Amino acid sequence: MVEVRLVKNEQELNEMFYQRWLVLRAPLAMPEGTEKDLYEDSAFHLVALCDHLIVGSARLRLLSPEIGSIAYVAVLPEFRNQGIGTSLMKKWMFIAIEKNLHTLRLMARKDVINFYKRLGFVPKGEFFDYLDVPHIFMYYKL
Ligand SMILES: CC(C)(COP(=O)(O)OP(=O)(O)OC[C@H]1O[C@@H](n2cnc3c(N)ncnc32)[C@H](O)[C@@H]1OP(=O)(O)O)[C@@H](O)C(=O)NCCC(=O)NCCS
Repeated sequence: MVEVRLVKNEQELNEMFYQRWLVLRAPLAMPEGTEKDLYEDSAFHLVALCDHLIVGSARLRLLSPEIGSIAYVAVLPEFRNQGIGTSLMKKWMFIAIEKNLHTLRLMARKDVINFYKRLGFVPKGEFFDYLDVPHIFMYYKL
């Protein structure tokens, strides 16, 4: 059974950063610490827990009172294709409605565009490289 909820304390936040690094930065041979940016303190963090282990995570930050940016969506390889990524995204979509946002934006890696399309996100603009990985902006109207 997987529980999806907001990070509840500092220790869990640090465990979440480690899980984010494992999924999104270690495969790019980037050192610990590179998984964080300047916005962590003002952002909201979701974790997916399985037997107290953080198996998934995702971040939401407000770009304006109406626009939210989702980033760092990450599920441990051995827990993929079980609906955990979808649960994280649906929780953000639910919270975004509660916060009266009208748009969600994210930067999708090219190889996971279909995952976001299935959730209703629409790609817009051209592909661009970030960390040598092709990305595209995708949007969801709430
Ligand atoms: C992208 C990512 C977050 C998806 O997480 P996930 O937990 O595997 O996502 P889900 O299981 O909800 O959906 C993945 C696929 O499994 C399928 N699936 C969902 N529930 C399923 C289930 N119960 N049984 C079998 N398959 C299922 C979905 O149809 C989906 O297919 P799609 O990719 O064609 O849309 C994950 O692959 C990941 O962390 N990738 C590496 C990091 C990354 O690229 N992050 C995104 C950066 S933009």
